[in-house]
Amino acid sequence: MASGKHSIFLFCYILCFTLTNFALNFRPVLAQKPVFACDVSGNPGLNNFSFCDASLDVKTRVDDLVNRLTLQEKIGFLVDGSKGVSRLGIPNYEWWSEALHGVSNTGPGTKFASPIPSATSFPQVLLTGATFNESLFKSIGKVVSTEARAMYNVGLAGLTFWSPNVNIFRDPRWGRGQETPGEDPVLSSKYGAAYVRGLQQRDDGDKDKLKVGACCKHYTAYDVDNWKGIQRYTFNAVVTQQDLDDTYQPPFKSCVIDGNVASVMCSYNQVNGKPTCGDPDLLAGVIRGQWKLNGYISSDCDSLKEMFNSQKYTKTPEETAALAIKSGLDLNCGSFLSDHTQAAIDGGLLNETDVNKAISNNFAMLMRLGFFDGDPSKQLYGNLGPKDVCTSENQEFAREVAQQGIVLLKNTKGSLPLSPTAIKSLAVIGPNANVTKTMIGNYEGVPCKYTTPLQGLTASVATVYQPGCADISCGTAQVDEAKKVAAAADAVVLIMGSDQSIETESKDRVDITLPGQQSILVSAVANVSKGPVILVIMSGGGMDVQFAKDDPKVTSILWVGFPGEAGGAAIADVIFGNYNPSGRLPMTWYPQSYVDKVNMTNMNMRPDPATGYPGRTYRFYTGPTVFAFGDGLSYSQFNHKLVQAPKLVSVPLDEGHVCRSSECKSIDAVEDTCKNIAFNIHLRVKNVGKMAGSHTVFLFSSPPRVHNAPQKHLLEFEKVHLTPMAEGLVRFNIDVCKHLSMVDEQGNRKVALGQHVLHVGSLKHYLNVRV
Ligand SMILES: *[C@@H]1O[C@H](CO)[C@@H](O)[C@H](O)[C@H]1NC(C)=O
Ligand SMILES: *[C@@H]1O[C@H](CO)[C@@H](O)[C@H](O)[C@H]1NC(C)=O
Ligand SMILES: *[C@@H]1O[C@H](CO)[C@@H](O)[C@H](O)[C@H]1NC(C)=O
Ligand SMILES: *[C@@H]1O[C@H](CO)[C@@H](O)[C@H](O)[C@H]1NC(C)=O
Ligand SMILES: *[C@@H]1O[C@H](CO)[C@@H](O)[C@H](O)[C@H]1NC(C)=O
Ligand SMILES: *[C@@H]1O[C@H](CO)[C@@H](O)[C@H](O)[C@H]1NC(C)=O
Repeated sequence: MASGKHSIFLFCYILCFTLTNFALNFRPVLAQKPVFACDVSGNPGLNNFSFCDASLDVKTRVDDLVNRLTLQEKIGFLVDGSKGVSRLGIPNYEWWSEALHGVSNTGPGTKFASPIPSATSFPQVLLTGATFNESLFKSIGKVVSTEARAMYNVGLAGLTFWSPNVNIFRDPRWGRGQETPGEDPVLSSKYGAAYVRGLQQRDDGDKDKLKVGACCKHYTAYDVDNWKGIQRYTFNAVVTQQDLDDTYQPPFKSCVIDGNVASVMCSYNQVNGKPTCGDPDLLAGVIRGQWKLNGYISSDCDSLKEMFNSQKYTKTPEETAALAIKSGLDLNCGSFLSDHTQAAIDGGLLNETDVNKAISNNFAMLMRLGFFDGDPSKQLYGNLGPKDVCTSENQEFAREVAQQGIVLLKNTKGSLPLSPTAIKSLAVIGPNANVTKTMIGNYEGVPCKYTTPLQGLTASVATVYQPGCADISCGTAQVDEAKKVAAAADAVVLIMGSDQSIETESKDRVDITLPGQQSILVSAVANVSKGPVILVIMSGGGMDVQFAKDDPKVTSILWVGFPGEAGGAAIADVIFGNYNPSGRLPMTWYPQSYVDKVNMTNMNMRPDPATGYPGRTYRFYTGPTVFAFGDGLSYSQFNHKLVQAPKLVSVPLDEGHVCRSSECKSIDAVEDTCKNIAFNIHLRVKNVGKMAGSHTVFLFSSPPRVHNAPQKHLLEFEKVHLTPMAEGLVRFNIDVCKHLSMVDEQGNRKVALGQHVLHVGSLKHYLNVRV
């Protein structure tokens, strides 16, 4: 989001919050009213306006409203701080609210104050990605939208939330990788669509209306914030058509087509020399034309200002305003369009019809949210209120999400789980051992409460605590104090990692090792410990912890992401075996040598043997990793057995098809012939361990090596819960053209002919695809 606006808002937030708290102590605060239009109880004349008539269809109502507005009034609806029109009973509306992993006050549309001073704070999204539990993604969205509606009803939030962030976590240095579900387009696509459905879908099944509006961002190929001085505001992402179509675009496409998202936000950066918010092919062409967005396209905050001031993409601000609107932009976060649209029209660069088109998309959204239906308390969700926020169920669910996401990366026999009865003293060491705010990551709200790791662990056993570093950057580790408590304890838990001072929006990392002297502290403590040493990494992106992986004295490693308000309880649940870990890494953990060698700004996914460029993510990168995508252990073991899978699939082609008479390496995946060719893969999964637990089955495929295909890509995944010795059947329905296809150099979807190797764990199955 915004640069300047953000910090001004933050300042205001601190001031206002202080003032509110001050006021709270001295006088009762009156319940506030939600903001809405068509308040006929106060103004019966509004009954005469068709746009207030909820029985009419959205288009009729929108057309009626637009017809009643002057041009000047219309321009006021092109920006996030929309100016109301009192003669028509329309109040001001702030479009910008956020709900990345819980209702957040990062945008000006949402505030925490009496009677709702806090909301449930789920784990930061990357850890949620690690659950690989699709139904969970939607359930989180549903809880968040319920709390959001409750806050709207008391006047503390809007109805439009600019979440989720579905950019691909392409490079481990990206400060915002934590906000995303990870590096895999299939996972990101499923996450985006499911979270959007959870936020938007109403319980009455009315598909035309929405509970709250979601927004998939930042479109597109955006994943450089500020690396060695290269800023997102001016960065030109040079992206091949192939990478664009098979890596960067799929999550957005899924948001629009599968999730029916209300909005897409264009990013700050340029793609191949054009700012995304001023590219008619990317906006009007793809989002609205090909994907048929039913909603509005918003800009990132001040991205039009950046397009003009920093990128100097047009000669005048009017040209930027006209370009953005003509490209398909409907709403500008910032004030650029309220400042420059009139002049653009006066100068003949734009006409009123263009403006009508944009605001019609915005009004249609507000209509679908019930904003023009009068008193919200008389509508569905009208009785949600403070009692529905931070409920014990919601807080318990935040703990469950963290449990499901936590990834066990190393576990020497006899280490985890720790027995709470056998451990008489536990040393808890590290700069993240007793943190609160660090656990909720960025785009956070005010959580209901916190359980720190130390508090979580202390609930089960006696603990001795030593931070070991003055802060997360750990300039000089306090090694002696830490060694003293470690040497005396039965077991040691080291809670290390990063926080928002290391990786965040506007801050990409340069190094991916543990900050400062953290690794010195870990090694020294491990060296003197007599029992298990559990290294817990609390971070967004991956860390090069090869030293700890190799150190036999470090007996277990856990990655806990930024685990949310209940993170400390969930960490203790896993450490003491109350929960059997089931998370899997949603991103590759690279060694430091990778970032030393690869520029963050190189957007290519595929390796280049000519330059030695190693490529990116598990789909293309073949070099050494610290931990791999999909890694994650359990306290149980699970076996897979293939029950059903074809060895051969034939794709029927027309008589005259060129591939019938000559050799073809691939066929188009969009032809009519390529529809509904599907098969089933059935697997039997057995828990052969002693503990009940959940297990994610990943179905990967290695296609024939044509068109620079990925070495391996995820087709589907399914998480199953199994008690000891229990078996489950996992069924995947594989559509040849959807799942087995890939994108060629020109951006066309193709199915490679020949041998596709399907893998599940160590199991391999050869499938021949032919015409
Ligand atoms: C509403 O419409 C009715 C019938 O057309 C008219 O009599 C009445 O004056 C209108 N009321 C207002 C407040 O415009
Ligand atoms: C406004 O401009 C659009 C092109 O952006 C054009 O199609 C339309 O005819 C114009 N409308 C008027 C009323 O001039
Ligand atoms: C741990 O953090 C909590 C919450 O901030 C605080 O109340 C407590 O005093 C801290 N414990 C120690 C031992 O510092
Ligand atoms: C581990 O302890 C041994 C013996 O006390 C010492 O020689 C060695 O330097 C220590 N290693 C580390 C990494 O602290
Ligand atoms: C990285 O980028 C810099 C500056 O653009 C360039 O000089 C350098 O050659 C690049 N290095 C690699 C390995 O691509
Ligand atoms: C997925 O998450 C849901 C909670 O939304 C949980 O009930 C279910 O057990 C999880 N699935 C597995 C296999 O763990």
